[in-house]
Amino acid sequence: MDRRLFLGTFGYPAAAAVLGVSLPSFGRSAAEIARELSSYAGGPDAAATDEAYWGQVGQAFTLDRSMVNLNNGGVSPSPAFVQEAMKRQLDYSNSAPPPHALWRVLEPQKEGVRARLAKQWGVSAEEIAITRNSSESLQICQLGIDLNPGDEILCCTQDYPRMRTTFQQRARREGVVVREVQVPVPAENDAAVLELYRQAISPRTRLMLVSHMVNITGQILPVRDMVSLARKRGIPVIVDGAHALGHFDFKLSDLECDYYGVSLHKWLFAPHGTGMLYVRRDKIKGLWPMQAAEEKLDDDIRKFEEIGTHPAANFLAIGEALTFNQAIGFDRKEARLRYLRDWWAKRLARHDRVRLHTSLDRRFSCGIATAQVEGIDSLELAGWLWDKHRILVVAIKHPEFQGIRVTPSVYTTLEELDRFCSAMEVVIRNGLPS
Ligand SMILES: Cc1ncc(COP(=O)(O)O)c(C=O)c1O
Repeated sequence: MDRRLFLGTFGYPAAAAVLGVSLPSFGRSAAEIARELSSYAGGPDAAATDEAYWGQVGQAFTLDRSMVNLNNGGVSPSPAFVQEAMKRQLDYSNSAPPPHALWRVLEPQKEGVRARLAKQWGVSAEEIAITRNSSESLQICQLGIDLNPGDEILCCTQDYPRMRTTFQQRARREGVVVREVQVPVPAENDAAVLELYRQAISPRTRLMLVSHMVNITGQILPVRDMVSLARKRGIPVIVDGAHALGHFDFKLSDLECDYYGVSLHKWLFAPHGTGMLYVRRDKIKGLWPMQAAEEKLDDDIRKFEEIGTHPAANFLAIGEALTFNQAIGFDRKEARLRYLRDWWAKRLARHDRVRLHTSLDRRFSCGIATAQVEGIDSLELAGWLWDKHRILVVAIKHPEFQGIRVTPSVYTTLEELDRFCSAMEVVIRNGLPS
C-alpha cells in the first residue's frame, strides 16, 4: 500500500508503529511524545550516548537538515507540537470574538503555565511572572529598583550587551555609576571570581547583576555564593539566567536569589517571544513594573505582566515545551548537551592552534563553548563556515578575546558535529581560502 495512504488510513502513530519507523511529530500530541520519551529507563550517563534516543527526540522538531544549526544559544526552534499548540490558540483567539477568547478564556489559562513553571523550578507560583524574553524580565529589575545619583551598580564586562546598555542609560539619565569587573576567560576558580566581585563592591554599591552563564563563553558563575556575598552587605542581585534555565539542571530555590530573568525561547524550546521572571515574594512590592500597574497590584507578581493587549497563544504553548523537557528529563538533557560539547571541543582542542575559551570542567560549563583558531579572524571563519558549509556558529569579538561560539542542541547529531570539526580542521591546517 502507498505509504502516505497507509498512514492516512490507519492514523499516524499506529501506522508508524506497524511500519516500525519513527516519524516526525506532526499530528502527534505532546502527551503521546512525552509518554514515549519518558518511558526511557536509562539514567543521564547512559542516555547521553544513546543516539537512538536522541534521534527520537530530534524527530519532534521540524528542521531543515541541509543546514547545521550550531547557534541554539541564540534562539531555539520549538518542537512541532509546541508550534501546533500555539497556532491552535491563535486560531481560537481569531475565531471567537477576541475580547472574549483572549481576555476571558485564554489569558486566565496562563495561571496553569505559571503554576507548572514554579513547581519545576522549586518556587511559588506567586513569584513567577510570564514575560516576553530575558531582556524584558531583566530590565524590569534593572530599571525598577530606585537609585540615587552617585549610587553604584556592579556588573561584568562579559554580561549581555543589552543589560550593560540598560545600566549605562541609567547612568546617563540618573547619574548612577556603573562599575564592571573583568572575569578571567575561562574562569576555573570560584573563590577567585568571588574575590573579584568582593573587591569591586564599595560602600556605595546598591545593585548587582550577575550572569548565571556568560553568553559569549558558556562560563557558569558561582551565583549562589555571589548572592550570599551581596546579601551580607544588603545589596540586591539580579541574576541573568538567559542561558542557564532549561540548559542544565538546578532549582531556582537552590540559588536563594531575589530576581532571576530568563528567555524560554532558548533552552526550554518554548515559542519565540516567551520569558520568565522570578521575584522573591518579599521583593515584589519594592520593584516597580516597567509598564504602570494599579496600586492594588503592588504586591502581586502579575503587575509585571501589565503590558497591554498581547497574544496569549505563545504563553500558553510554554506548557507543551515544558512537558517535552520533563519527558526527556532535565538531568538527561544536561548530560547530552555536555556530551555534544565534549564531542567537538575535545577533538578540536587536540590541535595546537586551537584555544578554548571555555573550561571543559563540568562545574564551569555545559553545552556552550567558544573556540579560537590562532591567527584566523573569527568573523571571517564564521562567515566561511556558513557560506561554504551552511554551518551556523556565532563569531564573538570581545575586547578581551575572540572566537566562535558553538551551541549544539538536543536534536544535533554526531554526524553534524563531525562535519563541523572536519571543516574546522581544513582551516586549522590550511588557513581560510583567500
Ligand atoms: C546572557 C543573556 N542575557 C540576556 C539575553 C537577552 O535575551 P532575549 O533577546 O531573549 O531577551 C541574552 C540573549 O542572547 C543573553 O545571552
